[in-house]
Amino acid sequence: MKFLVTGSAGLVGRQVVKDLLKSYENVYSCYHNSKPEDGFATQIDLADQNSIIKTVETIRPDVIVHLAAMTNVDQCETEKELAQKINARSTAIISEQAKKHGAFLLYVSTDYVFDGKKGLKKETDRTDPVDHYGRSKLEGEKAVQDISSRWCIARISTPYGMHPKKKSFPLFVAENLQAKVPLDIVTDQYTSPTYVPNLSRMLIEISSRNIQGILHVSGATRVSRYDMAVMVAEKLNLDKKLLRPTNMSAMNWKAPRPQDSSLDVSKAASLLKEKPMTVEKGLDLFIEELRSGFAT
Ligand SMILES: NC(=O)c1ccc[n+]([C@@H]2O[C@H](COP(=O)([O-])OP(=O)(O)OC[C@H]3O[C@@H](n4cnc5c(N)ncnc54)[C@H](OP(=O)(O)O)[C@@H]3O)[C@@H](O)[C@H]2O)c1
Repeated sequence: MKFLVTGSAGLVGRQVVKDLLKSYENVYSCYHNSKPEDGFATQIDLADQNSIIKTVETIRPDVIVHLAAMTNVDQCETEKELAQKINARSTAIISEQAKKHGAFLLYVSTDYVFDGKKGLKKETDRTDPVDHYGRSKLEGEKAVQDISSRWCIARISTPYGMHPKKKSFPLFVAENLQAKVPLDIVTDQYTSPTYVPNLSRMLIEISSRNIQGILHVSGATRVSRYDMAVMVAEKLNLDKKLLRPTNMSAMNWKAPRPQDSSLDVSKAASLLKEKPMTVEKGLDLFIEELRSGFAT
């Protein structure tokens, strides 16, 4: 099987490419600025229709794992047109190409397609994003459903894992507490944090089994940012008094955020062999990686 992975130097994509290579030889790791270490590195620009078409036509993949996106929520709010181009329009072009060449398309989407008024959303719940990032990703979801013929939309929430350049939330907390820097952390924002290696295995299982439809593949625990930070502090024996509770209204964000974008993962838990992990288990594994001297 031949795989084309977009965003393969990103937080999630880097792990997916590494894990795919354990079972498959033909993994094309597409990137824009940061050349990935693994796979057949292939440059692509999602803002350029011809670049997408040429890449898919040349590779002719059996599976496209579409992870690349403009992921900075505040930047999406100030550069709406670019976000629309990268997150929505490029996904429509990829969907057309997947259909044309008979590829299975796995589109990785977000918990931010929901309004966050009530959490633990199921796949069948109504979407209603509150910010432009969420709107552009939802437009991408609609393109996948309308255009491609074999597809899966996998929604994730707050991915965390080790990466040589990207600092996910638990590492940010750990490094600051180690340096005795106090942190203001919101107590009223809830998500379902997703441990990247667990996510990567779920995404690969979906791709190899061609599981179709919408699937929530986040972690299995609904937790506030603050409580997650406290868990990190406790697990690493760091001073949790440095964590100062605050709330979302006090944050100086350009884009609004959904307050509770946690996801119900029961469908994925019953369908997949790789089960969504609890935050306790994910953080234990994350800390093991941290202690084993992962080069950051
Ligand atoms: N991070 C989150 O909190 C979160 C939450 C829910 C869902 N998601 C979704 O999960 C997916 C993966 O997220 P992530 O955290 O791994 O993202 P990430 O680390 O920010 O990586 C995004 C990747 O997109 C690529 N990209 C951006 N613009 C591009 C362009 N014009 N052409 C080609 N590639 C481009 C970047 O490539 P270069 O580095 O080579 O420029 C980057 O590697 C995304 O679809 C995101 O929407 C993320």
